Amino acid sequence: MFRDKECGEIRENSIGSVITIAGWVFRRRDHGGLIFIDLRDRSGLCQIVFSPDVNAAAHDSGHDLRAEYVISVSGEIRRRPVGTENPNLPTGQVELYVDKLEILNEAAPLPYSMEEAAEAGEQLRLRYRYLDLRRPEMQQNLIMRHRVTKLMRDYLDRSGFIEIETPMLTKSTPEGARDYLVPSRLNPGNFFALPQSPQLFKQILMVAGMEKYFQVVKCFRDEDLRADRQPEFTQVDLEMSFIDRDDIIGLMEGLMQKVFKEVLDVEVAVPFKRLGYQESMERFGNDKPDMRFGLELRDMADLAGKGTFKVFLDALKSGGMIKALLGKGMAGLSRKDVDTLTVEAQSFGAKGLAWIKIKNGFESPIAKFFPEEVLKEMAERLEAEEGDMMLFVADRPKVVYDVLSRMRLELGKRLNLIRPGFEFVWITDFPLLEWDEEEGRFQAMHHPFTAPLVEDIEKMLSGDIKDKALLSSLKARAYDIVLNGFEIGGGSIRIHNQALQKKMFELLNIGEEDARTKFGFLLDALQFGAPPHGGIALGLDRLLMLMAGTSSIRDVIAFPKTQKGTCMMSGAPSTVETKQLRELHIKTTVIPEEKIAAGPVCDGL
Ligand code: AMO
Ligand code: AMP
Repeated sequence: MFRDKECGEIRENSIGSVITIAGWVFRRRDHGGLIFIDLRDRSGLCQIVFSPDVNAAAHDSGHDLRAEYVISVSGEIRRRPVGTENPNLPTGQVELYVDKLEILNEAAPLPYSMEEAAEAGEQLRLRYRYLDLRRPEMQQNLIMRHRVTKLMRDYLDRSGFIEIETPMLTKSTPEGARDYLVPSRLNPGNFFALPQSPQLFKQILMVAGMEKYFQVVKCFRDEDLRADRQPEFTQVDLEMSFIDRDDIIGLMEGLMQKVFKEVLDVEVAVPFKRLGYQESMERFGNDKPDMRFGLELRDMADLAGKGTFKVFLDALKSGGMIKALLGKGMAGLSRKDVDTLTVEAQSFGAKGLAWIKIKNGFESPIAKFFPEEVLKEMAERLEAEEGDMMLFVADRPKVVYDVLSRMRLELGKRLNLIRPGFEFVWITDFPLLEWDEEEGRFQAMHHPFTAPLVEDIEKMLSGDIKDKALLSSLKARAYDIVLNGFEIGGGSIRIHNQALQKKMFELLNIGEEDARTKFGFLLDALQFGAPPHGGIALGLDRLLMLMAGTSSIRDVIAFPKTQKGTCMMSGAPSTVETKQLRELHIKTTVIPEEKIAAGPVCDGL
C-alpha cells in the first residue's frame, strides 16, 4: 500500500495515529540532526520529519533524498512544537515523524528549481511541461478546467442538450483562418481540413432534428498566435432549433451565473449589458470593450473643424475622424513621457498623437490653432479639469478606433482605473458584411451562414453585389459575449432558407459552382425542411484564463503551443520519413534541406 491518506488532507484529528502518505520531495531542509521535507501530492503539502530518535536507518536514508524523488513514508502524526506551526498551510499544525521510508523512484537533477519555477522562463517550463504541471497553481488551473466543463455539461444536459461528436477529418469550414490540412492516403492529391469549428455539422444536426446539440470540442486554426490565441483551442459549441437570439442569450447568462457561482463563488448579475456594435465602436473603439472602467472615446470632429490645425482639417477632408481620450491627472507628464506616449500610439498605427494639457490654461503645441472657447468646449466634452491632459488621434476610422481602443486599455492600466471583478457585455447588431480592401469584395463579418436582421431580409434579397452602401448597411443577427475586454464567445441565428443562403454566397462573390463544391452538403440539406436555428460557441480557454486570473491561455491548457505553433515538449511539428511522404503522394519542394533538418523554430512564445 503506497498511502492511506493524501498529503494535503492530514489535520489535527490524526495526531497520535500512524499514517502512510506518498508523494514528491518538494522543499528539503537538512539540519543534520533533523531532516524536514515538504512532501507534495496533488492534494497539497505535508511536512515530514526524519529523526534519528524515531528510526536511525530511515533518518540515514533521508539524507539521500533529492528534489522530486517519489517516496512513501509511514509514521506517527504529531502536533508541531509551539512556534513552528505554519498558518499558511492547511496541514500546518501537524507533521509526520518518519518510521518507514520507501523510495519509489529517483529523479535526475532538475533543469530548474521547482520553488523558483516562475523565474525559470516559459520556454524551459514548456519543454519540461510535466514538471511545470506539478506546480499547485497549474494543477489548480487544470482542476478548474475540469470543474467548469463538468458544470457546463451538466447544465446543458439539464437544459435538454445532447453532446454529439462531429468529425475531425472534414472539409474546410469558413471561419476566416487558414486550415490545417491532412493528406488522404486513399485519395491521392486530396486533403481533409481539421475543423476551424463544427459550424456546418451542427447546422446539419439541426436539419437532422436533434434540436439541441452541444459539444466540448477542439478547433484548429492556422493563424497568427497571441496570448489569447492557440492553433488548437477548445469551444463549448452549441446549436438550438426553434429559438431566437434571446433564448441563446438567456441560456448563456444562466450558464455563466452557475459556473461563476460554483467555481469562484462570484455572483454574476443578469441580464448582462447589451451594446450595439456601432455604439461599442464609438464609445470604446472596438467590439470587445472592457466595461470595468470608463475612459470612453469622445468625438471631436465638429470642434476640430473650428480650428486651423492642418492634421485635423486634412483628416476631416479625406473622410477621416478625430477622437479623443482623457488623460486624467496627466498634465504633469514630462516632455519625455509625452514623447513615449506618442511613440506608443505610433506603434499602434497612429501617425501621431496630439495632446493638450490643462495646466494654468491650455498648454500644447496645437493650442495656438484653436480659439480659447473651442479649447474650453473640448475640455468640457472630455470632462477634463485642471491637471488633466487631452489626447487626440486623427485618421481613417479604422486607425482611430484601433489606436484609441488600445490607448484606452493602456491608460486604464496605468491610471489604475480598472475595477477588479468580472463584467460581461453582449455585443449585438454586427454588420452582416464587411468590405475587404485587399480582396476587393465583401466578407461575412461572422460567417456566411449568419442570418440578417428580419427587417433587412427584403433589402438583402434585392441587393446588388455592386451596391456597396446597401450591403454595408445590412445588419446580422449575430452576438458576441465579451468578458473584461476579451471576446469569450460568438454566435448567430442562421439562415435556414436555401434561397437566402444562395443570395449570401452571391453577395460574397462565391460562384455557384464554388459554393456547391465547398458547401453543397449544407445547401442540399437546407432544401429538406431545415428548422429555424441558431447557436453560439464559447472560447473555453479564454474564459478559463480570465477565471484563473492569468494573462495567457497557455496557463489553462495542459500542453499548449508556442507563438510559432510548436510544442516545446514533443518537438512537434517535425519531419517525417520519406516513405510516409511517398505513401501520401507528397513531395516537399521549396524548403531548403538545412531548414527541414534544423526542425521547427521555437523562439518566443
Ligand atoms: P468564433 O470564430 O467567434 O465562432 O469562435 C468562437 C470563440 O472561440 C474562441 N476562439 C479562440 N480561442 C483561442 N484560440 C483561438 N485561435 C480562437 N479562435 C476563436 C473565441 C471565440 O469567441 N462557429 C462559430 C460559432 C457560432 O456561430 O456558433 C465560431 O467558431 O472566444
Ligand atoms: P506635426 O504637425 O507633424 O509637427 O504634428 C504636431 C502634433 O500633432 C504632434 O504632437 C503629432 O504627434 C500630432 N499628430 C500628427 N499626426 C497626427 C494625427 N494623425 N492624429 C493626431 N495627432 C497627430
